[in-house]
Amino acid sequence: NGIITIDPGYKNTGACLSGITFLNGEKGILRYRGYSIEELAEKADFLEVAYALIFGDLPTTDQLAQFHSDIREKAIIDDDVKKILDAFPKVAHPMGVLSSLTSALTAFNPSSVNVDSEEEMYRAIVKIMGKFPVLVAWAMRKKQGLPLSYGSNSLGYVENVLTMMFQRPDEEYVINPIIKDALDKLLILHADHEQNCSTSTVRIVGSSHAGLFPSLSAGISALWGPLHGGANQAVLEMLEAIKEDGGDTKKYMAKAKDKNDPFRLMGFGHRVYKNFDPRAKIIKKAADQVLNDLGVEDPILEIAKGLEQEALNDPYFVDRKLYPNVDFYSGIIYRAMGIPVEMFTVMFALGRLPGWIAQWREMRLNKEPIGRPRQIYTGENHRAFTEIKKR
Ligand code: CMC
Repeated sequence: NGIITIDPGYKNTGACLSGITFLNGEKGILRYRGYSIEELAEKADFLEVAYALIFGDLPTTDQLAQFHSDIREKAIIDDDVKKILDAFPKVAHPMGVLSSLTSALTAFNPSSVNVDSEEEMYRAIVKIMGKFPVLVAWAMRKKQGLPLSYGSNSLGYVENVLTMMFQRPDEEYVINPIIKDALDKLLILHADHEQNCSTSTVRIVGSSHAGLFPSLSAGISALWGPLHGGANQAVLEMLEAIKEDGGDTKKYMAKAKDKNDPFRLMGFGHRVYKNFDPRAKIIKKAADQVLNDLGVEDPILEIAKGLEQEALNDPYFVDRKLYPNVDFYSGIIYRAMGIPVEMFTVMFALGRLPGWIAQWREMRLNKEPIGRPRQIYTGENHRAFTEIKKR
């Protein structure tokens, strides 16, 4: 109708119809394809959840076996990609490396670009489901100066992620079931979250028919920011800083409330959840359990719990409905698993991959138009051009 409504941050703008993830921010409900997040985190494994998100229903044993075998078959990456990885300095943040390599995969898999039929989409999907965890592991090993690995074809998806990340040369890597279960749970909890910043990015880039891999690469870049997935790294760095500062949580609470200080309490607040984040509840319990089961004592878990208690009783946070989000406790588990802090957001990306894919696929199958928001112009009116020597 030609009327443009301005909605900064799209706080009240629905961009699509979607049948993938249901979220009720007031009641703290999150469901993938109708299945509650609590039940999935407890009973499912990550690949089953990935299948359900992408294709709509939980898989049968045969469907899952076929999906896994198609993924494994496509995991091999052209050896020349290693040259690109080698060209990055060791100090490069692994999120930048991951986003670049995901986009670079297009050059080595040109058939993944024009995917109009469901079969062509499926082929692109199993390719990236296979290759992405390899890139994740390589991004970490590159920083550590370790040789690159494909793990083993006989392992489950999540077991192989761990093996590719942690196997040392000439040593057998024995998977700790506590670590495997914890990773499964974390990946499931991160697997989709309807139209968040990175997912909207994937959908909007994909809406130009740019292809799956570049759309995902754009999503990875969006996720990297500290207001989004990058918060998990920022939380741990914040908790470390508080510990170094003698555990003075009150000082940091005061900074977070000071409107002249740009500091925010990382891992707190959410655009949609206004009573609690159901993922944070599950992760907090898991953090206690994993540290206990692994026999790890981490003083920053106590700092985190103290900070949470103070925030939950502070009028500033209560009035603004700011609660711990998914990123508040996840880093504590990743750290206990031996994952370096710079890899935390990469682990988030690995979990979010099936969600991004499902949303991209839905957008293409629904034949959505190219994403193209409007604006209200606030610049200069028409001006006459003045030649440079007269300015
Ligand atoms: N610490 C201190 N104050 C906060 C915080 C925080 N973490 N979050 C929000 N506020 C205040 C904000 O200053 C504003 O106050 P006022 O009304 O006085 O101006 C009010 O709360 C509303 O905040 P907002 O920025 O308008 O809310 P938003 O919906 O635009 O932002 C958010 C949501 C998640 C970006 C924000 O809460 C935030 O920056 N949190 C910290 C970063 C973080 O943990 N991000 C992870 C989000 S969950 C997982 C994910 O998306 O990846």
